[in-house]
Amino acid sequence: MAAARLQIPTRLTVECAAAMTLTAPPETAATAVARDDVANAPELGLQARAALEARLEARLGRVHARSRLGIEEDHAAQVFHRARSVFHPENWYSFASVIRGSLRLVGAHGRARRNARTLAVVHHRPTLPALPRAFHGYRILHLSDLHIDVSEETAHAIISAARAVEYDLCVLTGDYRFRTSGDIEPALRNMERLRASLAGNVYGVLGNHDSVLMLPALEDMGIRVLMNESVVLERGGEHLYLSGIDDAHFFGVENFEKALAGVPEEGVTVLLSHTPEVFRQAAHSGIDLLLCGHTHGGQICLPGNIPVLLDAAIPRHLGRGAWRYRDMLGYTSPGAGTSIAEVRLNCPAEITVHTLQCR
Ligand SMILES: [Fe+2]
Repeated sequence: MAAARLQIPTRLTVECAAAMTLTAPPETAATAVARDDVANAPELGLQARAALEARLEARLGRVHARSRLGIEEDHAAQVFHRARSVFHPENWYSFASVIRGSLRLVGAHGRARRNARTLAVVHHRPTLPALPRAFHGYRILHLSDLHIDVSEETAHAIISAARAVEYDLCVLTGDYRFRTSGDIEPALRNMERLRASLAGNVYGVLGNHDSVLMLPALEDMGIRVLMNESVVLERGGEHLYLSGIDDAHFFGVENFEKALAGVPEEGVTVLLSHTPEVFRQAAHSGIDLLLCGHTHGGQICLPGNIPVLLDAAIPRHLGRGAWRYRDMLGYTSPGAGTSIAEVRLNCPAEITVHTLQCR
């Protein structure tokens, strides 16, 4: 179906919510080079790297592109020297064997492994008092924390689960890669398979596991990544605003001012953020619904779904599922994938369908 895009003030793009498929920019020699470069990111030649950086600067602006790339390079350098500190986050992956060993000791490893590859479809019905009538019943498929390169079994489970549900729009709230540094190509290959199985428009944001070098490839495959940007969805002549911020958990490159530029004060707005840690800024910026992930709901929980760790500076009740802060509704997905170790206990993986409701 033909896509219709109309540029309106500054950073806002009107998109026909019910009818269009996001079209990738036409493949040019430059984008083809950049795609190949992304595939070999760690070994980029200087010329190719410069071309990719130029593309990111053209897409994001100089400050955003350079700060994101610079922080990534600093992180990679720290990882490279991780042996100097046993407390370095990348050494947490050594912790994976401790987790697996502990689960084996209590006879729960097999179950925890199966749990990680078994996805629940959870239905959530947030009521937004000012929601335009035309968006009553609008279904948003929310996928988060895919870490889709962790194993073929997980990739297959996520793709199969997403293919089996019905929705009007799909949103992704970050963490496509398993690790926080290194090769991006396995994650991109599986994201391409996932994108091919998704219907209609797909929007997303980047998480703390995602390199900004993944951005051109994700957008070339038809995933519009909202990098402190908004689009307006149109349905029955009415509008719903969809905004997205870059990662606020590790990179700290979120920018609400830019993200919400052009969104009218009275507009009903859904914000995509990798982390729920921005809940205060979001609520006081007039966001109506915050969709996020990052916490994995704890991933390994005590009986009663009580998380041991959330890795986020938030009140505990924001760590998983539906919540409210002031007038804003929020939903923290426990994620479809896993990090550190491919196990889950007392914390099912899920994909979520949010069906929007008027009052
Ligand atoms: Fe994650």
